[in-house]
Amino acid sequence: MPRNIGVLASGRGTNLQAIIDGASSGGFDGRVAVVVSDRSKAPALDRARQAGIPAVFVSKKEAGSQEAFERSIAGVLDAHGVDVVCLAGFMRILGPWFVRWYWGRMLNIHPALLPSFPGLEAQRQALEYGVKVSGCTVHFADEGVDAGPIIIQRPVLVRSDDTFETLSERILVEEHKAYVEALRLLCDGRLEIQGKRVIVTGSS
Ligand code: GAR
Repeated sequence: MPRNIGVLASGRGTNLQAIIDGASSGGFDGRVAVVVSDRSKAPALDRARQAGIPAVFVSKKEAGSQEAFERSIAGVLDAHGVDVVCLAGFMRILGPWFVRWYWGRMLNIHPALLPSFPGLEAQRQALEYGVKVSGCTVHFADEGVDAGPIIIQRPVLVRSDDTFETLSERILVEEHKAYVEALRLLCDGRLEIQGKRVIVTGSS
């Protein structure tokens, strides 16, 4: 049975696009059932509409509290039969009950090799720290910021003339591959969480 994926995105939505394209080209056994954004003008919502996918804005302000906001999002996901949630540049913290509800079926992508450089502008943090290798991480989301058992990491070498923009661009290429690969493993039922570790079972 193909998995029903709900994508939460706040911005331009290139990872969302990679997921939409991955689903339509058979990269994994799933379909994007709905896209939710906390920003009414997020380009991610336009990408969803262009692909014929329901695109829903959920306002934190209108919801009032953090919990009401999260319950609204969960309501939208439920209404579309979502069983897997992908955070794709969703720039809001999700609280304990939401994370628990979707535990083991909610993925996040981050533009650094976690646990290094969680939070905002990870690529800038990596450059400022002076690391020689950065990259991206797809992980199961837990209650921390950019935290949880790691599924896939893809390295990117840092060049001495890199800027935030050039490094971000090379990492983004790897992000798109990593997200589709992680979804393939998840949709094929090949991921097993053992404490902090994710074991990949079976063979491709
Ligand atoms: C991506 O680089 C993603 O890794 C990052 O936001 C960007 C969203 O781009 N997420 C985080 O930094 C999470 N802490 P996109 O809207 O083009 O997918």
